[in-house]
Amino acid sequence: MKTDPTADVPPRPIVVLVSGRGSNLQALLTAASDEHWDRDLQACIAAVISNQPRAGAIDVAQKHGVAVHVVDHRAFSSRNEFEQQLAVTIDLHQPVLIVLAGFMRVLSAEFVHHYAGRLINIHPSLLPSFPGLNTHRRALEAGVRVHGATVHFVSKEVDSGAIIAQAVVAVDPDDTEATLAARVLQQEHRLLPRAVRHVLTGRVQCAGTRAVLRDIAPGELSLLSV
Ligand code: GAR
Repeated sequence: MKTDPTADVPPRPIVVLVSGRGSNLQALLTAASDEHWDRDLQACIAAVISNQPRAGAIDVAQKHGVAVHVVDHRAFSSRNEFEQQLAVTIDLHQPVLIVLAGFMRVLSAEFVHHYAGRLINIHPSLLPSFPGLNTHRRALEAGVRVHGATVHFVSKEVDSGAIIAQAVVAVDPDDTEATLAARVLQQEHRLLPRAVRHVLTGRVQCAGTRAVLRDIAPGELSLLSV
C-alpha cells in the first residue's frame, strides 16, 4: 500500500493577532478549511490572540475551535511588559507565520525585529499612501480615484514594510466612507488568504524594503476590481 509521506508531519502553526470584528480572520479560516490548503501548505491556524477582551474575532475563532488568548494591553503598565507577554503567548505555538488581521496596537522596533520575515499585516489603503487610521475618509478627502488594501511584512515604522500584495478598488463619485470601506473590505478578504498562501509556500520572501517573488503568475498579488 502507498503511504502518504506527509501524513505524520504536524501542520505548521500560524498565529493571528486581532483587535476587532474578525472578518479577515474569518476569511483566513475559510481558506484554511479548504482541502487544498491542507495538502499544499501543511499549515493551520493554531491560535488567535486578541488585545481586546470583547473583540468579535474571539467568537469567530471559538466557532472554528481555534485556541484563543486575550492579552489585554490595559493590564500592563508599559508597552514593553505588554509585548513581553504577547511574545510569550505567541511563542507557546512556535508559529512559522504571525498575521496581524486588524490588530490595532503599534509594535516596538524590538518586537518587530524579533519576528522579522514572519510577521505580516493587512492595512486598508494602497500603501505607502494613507498609513495610520481613518484611511477611507482620508482617501475621499484627498480625492483619489483608486484606493484599496495592502498586505506587507511588518517593519519598525507603522504601516510600512515590504509589500506582498495589493488590491485596488475604484473610488466612485458617490462613495461615502462606509460604502468605500465595504468594497475595500471585500477585497481584503480575497487578498489576505492569497498573501498568506504565497508566504507559506516560500514564493514571497522579505528582502529588506522589498519583497522578492518567485514562480508567481503575473497579477496573482495585484488584484484589480476597477
Ligand atoms: C481591516 O480593515 C484591516 O485592514 C484594518 O482593520 C480592519 C479589521 O477588520 N487594519 C488596520 O487598520 C491596521 N492598520 P476585521 O477585524 O473585520 O478583519
